[in-house]
Amino acid sequence: MRLLTSVAAIAAAFVLPAMASAADAPVQVTLDASKPGPVIDRHIFGQFAEHLGSGIYGGIWVGKESPIPNTRGIRNDVVAALKALKVPDVRWPGGCFADEYNWRRGVGPTRKPAVNSNWGGVVEPNTFGTDEFMDFAQQIGTEAYVSVNLGSGSAQDAAEWLEYMTSSTDDGFGQDRAKNGHAEPYKVAILGLGNESWDCGGNMSPDFYVSEMKRFARFLHNYNPAQPMKMVAVGPNGPNTAYTEAVMKAWQGHSWAWNIEGLSLHSYSTGGWPPHLPATGFDEKDYAILLKDTLGMEDMVKTHSAIMDKYDPEKKIALVVDEWGAWLAPTPGTHEGFLVQQNSQRDAVLAALNINIFARHADRVRMANIAQMINVLQAMILTDKDKMLLTPTYHVFHMYVPFQDATSVPLSFDAGQYTTNGITLPRVDAVAAKDKAGKVWIAITNVDPKSPVTFSVAINGVKATKASGQTLAAAKIDSVNTFDAPNTVAPKAVSAKVANGKLSITVAPASVTVIGLEP
Ligand code: AHR
Repeated sequence: MRLLTSVAAIAAAFVLPAMASAADAPVQVTLDASKPGPVIDRHIFGQFAEHLGSGIYGGIWVGKESPIPNTRGIRNDVVAALKALKVPDVRWPGGCFADEYNWRRGVGPTRKPAVNSNWGGVVEPNTFGTDEFMDFAQQIGTEAYVSVNLGSGSAQDAAEWLEYMTSSTDDGFGQDRAKNGHAEPYKVAILGLGNESWDCGGNMSPDFYVSEMKRFARFLHNYNPAQPMKMVAVGPNGPNTAYTEAVMKAWQGHSWAWNIEGLSLHSYSTGGWPPHLPATGFDEKDYAILLKDTLGMEDMVKTHSAIMDKYDPEKKIALVVDEWGAWLAPTPGTHEGFLVQQNSQRDAVLAALNINIFARHADRVRMANIAQMINVLQAMILTDKDKMLLTPTYHVFHMYVPFQDATSVPLSFDAGQYTTNGITLPRVDAVAAKDKAGKVWIAITNVDPKSPVTFSVAINGVKATKASGQTLAAAKIDSVNTFDAPNTVAPKAVSAKVANGKLSITVAPASVTVIGLEP
């Protein structure tokens, strides 16, 4: 095993051949809390809520008259569950939906329905609009990440939307907002300048997008001095570097007239396109195919970061992975355009692996938004009328809360290998961080679905006698939570002793564990 001392070097450990590869040999890990790395921005735990299927209607919004307990139309059970995740930001209203969204139809006493041309051609009632989204954001205690329409809309439309949201009541749009019940300007922390402009956002060439993006960045103003706003430009489609080069090159030469703070990356884990892998009832081969695909995120982040380093060596621009997650075959019997899929223990492992990748690249990846928050793709929460369940992915996000804004702590280990059906993956993964109170946390993933793994962690730079936390394991890799059995996959308390400076813990197959060191 090589001893790696920098956080950036940790990823290299994954490509080393396993030395002690006997499946039952403990994985030797060295942790050094005296060598802090970059801060893991809490915004890597962001969420995405699009007007798609029941992501908004049914999932968040049930209406004020609903028998489902709600506050001003927003369901209380969902709010309580999301509050516990300390969601740093929610990206809204899309997705592809954002690039056709007409914000004016969704404000005021009379809403103008539209057709959701991207997602199933169903009626979009526009009853959940800007004021409802901001109320929802306030109820769950999150920041607003608003994506403006750079596809079918004009810079003027988007500028006036921002004026509606952020200006004081000296301004006519601010007066409209006050008439609609909110005199105080809203806080827009993050603004997305279009969505997937290389495809559903208008199929623009990189250079054409850059010209459009510059106009939007120039003329869209945040009028609320209480909330600085960051702008995120459309960036790469998975590994394709064309947008990365074009946007970053333009940014390097930018004038006073415009600026951005983030470059978006979208990358879904599918195991091949179109999405076809089943969300339940899958075998070990499909488990490995999907996780192999998801681990490609590491190289993707490195590729785009290298280009960004060329134009922005000071890392002023964040790589914002604002759509990621598993995109699987739709649940049989559901509308194909609603992207409904169950969420299994495999999703939990997948979520942890991606979070670990973002944490290892915390110097550049400072925001990410899993797709999507409720009822769509790799969701945190599933709802069915008055019922709600928390998915295995939700539990992973909850277990990782201590990593929000914590400082990376370097770990060195040999990940070993797990091979099935000719597919080889790292057998384990781990990250560590120190929170603001000085407590050190370790997150451990056992990718191997057949064998438990013992970790032997040499603790340096922090006094510890024991560790405790939670572990998420399941009877099967495709175990899921259902409305009838919502706690089939749920975290359990776990603890371990530290003896002679070493922590020893054995974790279950295909599991995620987060433990904190205690003096
Ligand atoms: O998340 C579903 C869709 O995937 C989004 O609307 C779009 O941006 C992406 O292609």
